[in-house]
Amino acid sequence: MQQLSVLNSWNIDDILDDLNLYGFALIDDAYPLDYLHAVAGECIENLQRFRDAAIQNGVVSKIRSDHILWINDQLPIAHQHILTLEQFSQQLNRAFFLGIKDVEAHFACYNAGEFYALHRDNPQQKNDRVISVVFYLHPDWQDDWGGELRLQDKHGNWHIIAPKTNRIALFQSDLLHEVLLAKQQRLSITAWLRNNNPILN
Ligand code: OGA
Ligand code: MN
Repeated sequence: MQQLSVLNSWNIDDILDDLNLYGFALIDDAYPLDYLHAVAGECIENLQRFRDAAIQNGVVSKIRSDHILWINDQLPIAHQHILTLEQFSQQLNRAFFLGIKDVEAHFACYNAGEFYALHRDNPQQKNDRVISVVFYLHPDWQDDWGGELRLQDKHGNWHIIAPKTNRIALFQSDLLHEVLLAKQQRLSITAWLRNNNPILN
């Protein structure tokens, strides 16, 4: 049970405290390096299958220029991250009664010059995303390569979060955020913990 042992190395109390106080939390050195390298390898091997994230149902959006690939058990290494997040969700549910029932995730690749403008992952509760989880898996990242996650916390304060290799950033899906222009190829998995509640229109 590799997922369980990873969770044991996360400081769950600190993560829950930060989520509660600020609406976001960071986990540095999230995974053992052998897993990090394996999942980055799986991402890179599949890059030619990634699609323009801006095109959804034939409609082209101008707010993002990254490329994505949805993860299922056909991408077995990345799928283990989903299994880890399912277990982590149980702890979130116990602490905050969030009612998370499902995890969805995609790889994302921002090539040099690509970005994702200011947005929320769950605007006006229009979908059932409760918590967003971004895991940065590029082999290397340097401070002057851009690509930061700029996030407004639940008190309205802005934070600039570097996409450090092997870092996980978690935040409430209703918070405003953006991905600043990347100057090098930036690789990640974005996941959403969902409560599957019916959407009220
Ligand atoms: C997203 C997103 C942030 C990041 O995929 O919706 O905002 O740092 N990602 O990649
Ligand atoms: Mn987002």
